[in-house]
Amino acid sequence: MTDTKKKIALTGIKPTGIPHLGNYLGAIRPALELSKTCEARYFIADYHALNACKDPAVLRKMTLEVAATWLAAGLDPDKVLIYKQSLVPQTHELLTILMAFTPKGLMNRAHAYKAMLQSNAEAGKDPDDGVNMGLFTYPVLMAADILLFDTDFVPVGKDQFQHVEMAVDIAQSFNHVYSCEALKIPQALSSDISSILPGLDGRKMSKSYDNTIPLFVPEKQLRKLIMRIITNSQGVEEPKDPDTCTIFSIYKNFATEAQIQSLRERYLAGGMGWGHAKQELFELMNEHLSPMRARYDELMANPAEIDRILAEGSAKARDFASEKIKYLRQVIGVE
Ligand code: TRP
Repeated sequence: MTDTKKKIALTGIKPTGIPHLGNYLGAIRPALELSKTCEARYFIADYHALNACKDPAVLRKMTLEVAATWLAAGLDPDKVLIYKQSLVPQTHELLTILMAFTPKGLMNRAHAYKAMLQSNAEAGKDPDDGVNMGLFTYPVLMAADILLFDTDFVPVGKDQFQHVEMAVDIAQSFNHVYSCEALKIPQALSSDISSILPGLDGRKMSKSYDNTIPLFVPEKQLRKLIMRIITNSQGVEEPKDPDTCTIFSIYKNFATEAQIQSLRERYLAGGMGWGHAKQELFELMNEHLSPMRARYDELMANPAEIDRILAEGSAKARDFASEKIKYLRQVIGVE
């Protein structure tokens, strides 16, 4: 699997429930695209999820769901290294090493931590109420994930850029102390379309607005959801503006250039009602999602298969990681 000429792309997927269309178009599809030109290492960040989720059944279920989603979306475990963070214990050794190079002040500046302090202040609570050390040191664990695998590129949403920058700071500080290039300096790649993909109500598609289209809902339900997309009250005959329309915005992500052009013309010409546009969107999306949905259902019915794939990938990840740790141990002088 190691190809020395190829750049290494790595990202962590936090298991947080069934992904929606925005996650697919904004994170999964671009990461799979990137894996065609890079050596890709994509893992389930289950220890990151532990900070917020303390229910073992839920954590396990969400891990299976997210793994099944990526596999169903086309991740080929023979080409992409897929593993579980918790099955690569070298991550935690690197975490311990990196702790010694992470100024506390750097962590104080993390957006997620600052947001917690802020909301505690607003609620008149103790500033550190509900803040565990896992949350406080979240960026260091993420730096360990990244730096353990000699990562060049980290495809993530914009909300994660600060964390990748922190990984860069920590790596530079380590390299500076030992006058070496032991840790490769990573670069964040933006894969954010979530800010432009509208949800059912026209606002940005987000779980917190309850306006998402879950990826693998059954066909009937998919159609129902699409029919619920909010439009304006223009009648069938009126010409319509594709560029301010939720249906069209979603359609563009699945259509060919010719299909986009054709639908655009029909919007502008008038004579096409919203119901008709929604039906076209449904048919196109269903065509794309049906095979993925079938594969997802098949995997979820057979969790042992998912576990096997993750175990196999994790064994390969450990081989790589243990070599890296051995080298770093020499650098710092514990070996
Ligand atoms: N923090 C990321 C998120 O919430 C998940 C993550 C964990 C990650 N470790 C990573 C992403 C390493 C990129 C690289 O989405």
